[in-house]
Amino acid sequence: RMKVTETFEGIALPGHLHTQESLGFAAAFTFRPTDVLIATYPKSGTTWMQEILTLLYSLGDARPAKTIPNWERAPWLEQIYCREALRDTESPRLLTTHLPAHVLAPALQRSKAKVIYVARNPKDVAVSFYHFHHLAKFLPDPSSFDAFLTQFLEGTVHYGSWFEHVKGWLGQRHLLDILYVTYEEMHQDLRGTAQRLSSFLGCPLAPGTLAALEQHCSFSAMRDNAMANYSLIPAEIMDHSQGRFMRKGVVGDWRSHFSPEQNALFNRRYQEEMGDVELPSQWPM
Ligand code: PPS
Repeated sequence: RMKVTETFEGIALPGHLHTQESLGFAAAFTFRPTDVLIATYPKSGTTWMQEILTLLYSLGDARPAKTIPNWERAPWLEQIYCREALRDTESPRLLTTHLPAHVLAPALQRSKAKVIYVARNPKDVAVSFYHFHHLAKFLPDPSSFDAFLTQFLEGTVHYGSWFEHVKGWLGQRHLLDILYVTYEEMHQDLRGTAQRLSSFLGCPLAPGTLAALEQHCSFSAMRDNAMANYSLIPAEIMDHSQGRFMRKGVVGDWRSHFSPEQNALFNRRYQEEMGDVELPSQWPM
């Protein structure tokens, strides 16, 4: 098991993908006005949004999604290969980040880049993240779900606190050109989300785009697409015998994992952290 962790601004990150240099590169990035940044806390719908934007910008042509790995289509700004991945990329560039808002906000505020922040019910995030720790060799071995949940609520897991991440990016709403989308909304009405994205991005919908997008961005199509499901990652990094990246793709899986006590604790912490926070209208937490 890989043990190396890179720490940045008090947040632990996988060391095989992050260095102080790569993180500094992200924090000092010069955004183009045409850049589109997908920002998420892990397990919130990142890969799904990458696929949706790929299909929107290809006007429904599935070839890019089927031939180019998602980490090349929408590279992670903070990861070591980003500079190289962006070398010949034409505008509009799609970018991805798990970094907290305070790291990227200064660079973003100096630009006209657009940001799409995707959030998911944190109870489902915790469940998805817990399972992901079993296959991701670059994350600490999870012990029990109960112990993991405690760390998740304390914000001591890799990538830091869910609460801080969400509050940080919500705090940018008047400072950035930012759209808030939830996993639950994509689940309930993918077409509606795609239309909302299309008008936010000024990316017109060609006839047939919505149908193609609905087909290629479905859970089953993405589960079977090697360019989206991370099956290309070698077993030393992701042990595919321990589970699939495209695990279940449902809303409310926390109900089959949380005990009543865990749920009560979670609700209490959520209320403490989020009680006063003004959430966007489409926010079914
Ligand atoms: S990561 O590691 O941060 O990039 O993970 P991320 O992509 O944000 O989240 C992974 C979860 O999203 C689910 N997923 C989907 N659900 C429904 N439909 C589609 N098309 C889809 N694509 C990805 C994926 O299955 C993970 O959730 P869980 O609950 O573990 O299944």
